[in-house]
Amino acid sequence: MKHNHWIDPIKRMFIPRPTKQKHKRFDMAERTSSFPDQYFSRFMRSIVQEDFITYPSYAEYDSLKDDIAKHNEVGRSNVYLSTGSGACIKSLCEITMYPSANIVSPVPCYPMYGIYGRLFGGDHIGVEYDDSITFNLDKLIDSINLNTRLVVISNPFSPIGEYKTIDEIRKLCKVCADREIILLIDEAYVDFSPGTVLPLIKEFDNVVISRTFSKAFGAAGIRVGYLLASEKLIDLVTKVQLTYPLSNISVKFASYLLNNLDEIALYSYDTIRGRDNLCKLLSDGGYDVINSHTNSIHFHEKDGDNSEAVDIMNNYGLAFKSGDTKTGTPVMVPGDDRKTWIRLSVGPDIDTMAFVGDLI
Ligand SMILES: Cc1ncc(COP(=O)(O)O)c(C=O)c1O
Repeated sequence: MKHNHWIDPIKRMFIPRPTKQKHKRFDMAERTSSFPDQYFSRFMRSIVQEDFITYPSYAEYDSLKDDIAKHNEVGRSNVYLSTGSGACIKSLCEITMYPSANIVSPVPCYPMYGIYGRLFGGDHIGVEYDDSITFNLDKLIDSINLNTRLVVISNPFSPIGEYKTIDEIRKLCKVCADREIILLIDEAYVDFSPGTVLPLIKEFDNVVISRTFSKAFGAAGIRVGYLLASEKLIDLVTKVQLTYPLSNISVKFASYLLNNLDEIALYSYDTIRGRDNLCKLLSDGGYDVINSHTNSIHFHEKDGDNSEAVDIMNNYGLAFKSGDTKTGTPVMVPGDDRKTWIRLSVGPDIDTMAFVGDLI
């Protein structure tokens, strides 16, 4: 069958998820607990049959863009909406990638940067960490070449969780601007970090920031994400927008969250507090711990292979990621040879949960 031959080596994994971990979702950096009943029921009362029967209206999309614009102190023309920030990133690849072009990003990273780049015929240049959890941006700059069309970093970095300041990132923006290359800064986890680098989009019209409702906003299921950038860049990416990328229900819930931000602010604040305290407890309790500016942390038994810790957490029915000594699936952190780290998503009160007592 005739098709684009460059997609042949691409391997996609669609792993089914156990559903029983309803209140134990510590594997995918989602909200770890349900919304307060009153908060959620108030939203549910706004759902009507028309939401299911009719196509979404562009007026509703504009209204959500206005809410997002207000939240970020930019204009509606600086916002692009799509089906999760993943789809926004794919749109950026669609406008930049072609056979012989390349996308440059750190590795490890959110794996879809490379996959979406390659879907449109591009190569992925993955720039490895040096021997530590601090990523070297100069090394990334040195890897940009004449065929580079898209450079991507996440800030905080994912999955490791480092945070770079706006001043540390500005040199990369300038290098990309001088070479007319689009630079994406993925801020999926920004609400758990010291803050956004959004002012860069006003300094550089080639810089674009992606955001998601899936993490601190607690709404991975509605699949809403957005880009923030200069009007020029947003106009370009809007050419590849799906006709109706968001459902009526998704638009309504995203707007509801933006207009009822107290709950989101509280969740982010409590998650940061719980994360930092858990890291201290684990560190004092004899684990090697990589704290993070995201809502996931890594830890490892100092002298073991984590199998005891994995057993304890399995006994509590928690969903989490771990490097498996039996299957050989690695979970690693840069600068460390062990392949058996535990990656745990965190939320408010994670530090007071019973499994932590057993671990330490
Ligand atoms: C760094 C990063 N960027 C983007 C995404 C995509 O998120 P979504 O498509 O749910 O907005 C993820 C998801 O885990 C992520 O970790």
